Amino acid sequence: MVSLAVEICGLKFRNPILTAAGPTTRDANSLLAAVEGGAGGLVAKTVSGASEKNPRPNLAKIKDNILSADLWSEDPLSKWTGEWYPKVKKGTDIPLVASIGFTAEEVGELAPKVVAAGVDAVELTIHSPADNPAPIVEAVKTVKEEVDVPVLVKLGPVPKVKRFAEAAEGAGADGIVATGSLGPCLSIDVETAMPLMGAAGGHGWLSGPAVKPLAVRCVADIALAVNVPVIGAGGVSTGRDAVEFIMAGASAVQVCSAAIIHGAGIYGRIADEMSHFMQIKNYRTVEDMRGIALKHLPEAPMHPKARAPEVIRSRCTGCRLCEKSCIFGAVKIIGGVARVDLTRCTGCGLCVSVCPTRALRF
Ligand SMILES: Cc1cc2nc3c(=O)[nH]c(=O)nc-3n(C[C@H](O)[C@H](O)[C@H](O)COP(=O)(O)O)c2cc1C
Repeated sequence: MVSLAVEICGLKFRNPILTAAGPTTRDANSLLAAVEGGAGGLVAKTVSGASEKNPRPNLAKIKDNILSADLWSEDPLSKWTGEWYPKVKKGTDIPLVASIGFTAEEVGELAPKVVAAGVDAVELTIHSPADNPAPIVEAVKTVKEEVDVPVLVKLGPVPKVKRFAEAAEGAGADGIVATGSLGPCLSIDVETAMPLMGAAGGHGWLSGPAVKPLAVRCVADIALAVNVPVIGAGGVSTGRDAVEFIMAGASAVQVCSAAIIHGAGIYGRIADEMSHFMQIKNYRTVEDMRGIALKHLPEAPMHPKARAPEVIRSRCTGCRLCEKSCIFGAVKIIGGVARVDLTRCTGCGLCVSVCPTRALRF
């Protein structure tokens, strides 16, 4: 029997698929829709000292990714504390996390107010320079003095994310969330020569599958460096994506872009896919999978002798994807089955990742 239940910072989640701060968690109704859609925990849209008007346009789908210039909540704190957090708490017993930003002074004032409104934890999004975690340290210390609920710190995909996570843990953070959107980015509509975003410079921030490898790397770096739980975010849209983050050391994941594109039912679908994967692979609990990939991360580059992949003939459908993408001309479909020319193969691994049926393996 597979169990998806996880406990993080003393909070019990029915599954590790959480909402992320964003437009899909912009008010009480969208949060309750996420519960209906199968989310295991709720992180609400970020509120800050003053509500903010978004530039327009501020959302665009680029392949399966989202480019966004959506800022923090356009609604005032009073709406959240007076109406929406209490309505969500009344409507569900799933943990509710308030996301608050962006300076130590602001979160120090906001934290007691959102906790008084009933939230179970706070997630801090703090503006800080890419090379200096001092504002995060100050914010965590300030909030820890103000509230008794778990304090999570959300980190952007900064190059020194490990140092930031260690600093946050040292200041008393109870958990780390990694990561947010990547940017600034620019995308132009070639029909009109206009930027897709109405923000200054046409800038937007990228989320979705394109940022997943960066987010997974951040999670692994952080999981290896700190002892507090890590929650992954960035490009989760399937059960396998969620498992990847868990294997990299995450205790749970958050989902934003996929919920924007596919709707609130995505949370339950991801959880179901994860459960199915666990059944097939004989993992009983999420904890059984957590961090199991970390021991395989090489400390130094691996330089083994180039090896060609093995072809599992019974799995090969002759689809030619490997042949088309082999830049060395080493893979050919002969008699309906892939064959690797050992004199040409450099052991790069591309065909193994391209094969849809896992007919090629090292
Ligand atoms: C439209 C949009 C709005 C977002 N708003 C917030 C926000 O208010 N606060 C925050 O911390 N992160 C915000 N994020 C970042 C997400 O919470 C999440 O960290 C990021 O999108 C990566 O996850 P994903 O690939 O599943 O979207 C936003 C993302 C998007 C796409």
